Amino acid sequence: MANIAVLGAGYVGLTIAACFAKLGNSVIVADVDAKKISELNEGLCPIVEDGMLALLNEGVARSALSFVTDNKSAVANADFVFLCLPTPQNPDGTADSSYVEGAAEEIAGHIKESTVVVTKSTVPVGSSKIIEKALRRSDVSVVSNPEFLREGCALSDFFYPDRVVIGSNDLSAAQKVAELYKTMNVKIIITDPASAETIKYAANAFLATKISFINAVAAVCEGVGADVLDVIEGIGSDSRIGKAFLSPGPGWGGSCFPKDTKAMVRIADDAGYDFTLLRGVIDVNDQQHERILGKVLSCKQDDVKVFRVGVLGLTFKAGTDDRRDSPAVKIAQMLISRNIEVHAYDPTVSKYSEAIDLAGIHLHQSALECTFDADVTLVATEWPEFKKLDACLVGEKMRSKNVVDARNILDAEAWKSAGFRHIGVGR
Ligand code: UDX
Repeated sequence: MANIAVLGAGYVGLTIAACFAKLGNSVIVADVDAKKISELNEGLCPIVEDGMLALLNEGVARSALSFVTDNKSAVANADFVFLCLPTPQNPDGTADSSYVEGAAEEIAGHIKESTVVVTKSTVPVGSSKIIEKALRRSDVSVVSNPEFLREGCALSDFFYPDRVVIGSNDLSAAQKVAELYKTMNVKIIITDPASAETIKYAANAFLATKISFINAVAAVCEGVGADVLDVIEGIGSDSRIGKAFLSPGPGWGGSCFPKDTKAMVRIADDAGYDFTLLRGVIDVNDQQHERILGKVLSCKQDDVKVFRVGVLGLTFKAGTDDRRDSPAVKIAQMLISRNIEVHAYDPTVSKYSEAIDLAGIHLHQSALECTFDADVTLVATEWPEFKKLDACLVGEKMRSKNVVDARNILDAEAWKSAGFRHIGVGR
């Protein structure tokens, strides 16, 4: 059992804290956001993540998990300090690692001898050296241990990972971190810090490339009369390609892919390589928002005075309440900027939300209510409840029977039989 301090109670920090506590460690989480910490201490979970609330509460009940606002006290007795702080995007596309560096400086005089400081945040390549400098402690080792957690299935991704990557120049510190995962019978890859940091960016860049590739193929399918779902079956059955991350949609979003792809282009630039492939991947993703917008606008009759769109789903994908860089929100904003009336429903968004990114959107309490009097229903997020919508019932309430299924989740034949013009992606 180890004493672990986790700095940052965001999505990554909370996940690893709850999971390491479950594995038998004693974990203290620190975050400067006093409101968040007091909610956690009241037994509330600030994020929507399947199974998280129960796991947090279970850890607290066993006294294996606690929450504080002070980094210094959190690290005082720690064998490991995990830095899970935000690395927001700078205007030039690079990742801002000042929170990570600042925390390292702050804890430098408060950690005990031989503590291992582990970076979980996606930090620019070379950050391990910068953190070492900020710590100014020759007895403390820095290890990079990037996370590959997906929102919505973060707990199972933690407990059943495809691999754990550990990067350090200090092999014994790397092995200490590997010990934390020993009960999980997982493939551990030990490497140098720059390689570990690059693995994280390269993994996200590759996954984003797969999605942009299939979105581009979907556009070709539409032009030549092919069905992208059959094409995915055909290419994905090749074990060299695989079917994962080949679902066409409104483009990738979220807290990682947009930020990390841009950062990787910048990292490459700084290293003297023009990563045109990845620039293309980002361009294809931007075009995908426009392509979905075009599908919606294609349903507009010239004589319609007020064109009304019902957007189903606002989060960047299902299973999360995260709307950061959400394609659904981007497309809704693009519609609003064209003076189109946008109504929306998302199971994680209250009808009374005054969030800035939702300004101008009429929010509703249910999917059905959101489609009332609409000229088009746009399925923007793949929430399971949208699959179950009764096409006949929706059709009775809408002004015109048009549905744009940007996630290809609806039963196209059922919607067509209900009199709908059904527009999917790549079909
Ligand atoms: C991602 C990585 O998967 C994870 O390893 C990393 O640690 C953080 O970034 P996440 O942002 O939670 O995780 O979302 P993910 O499930 O990967 O989806 C990212 C985006 O791609 C979403 O907008 C999703 O809708 C889209 N997507 C995903 C597709 O459009 N098609 C697909 O086939 C898969």
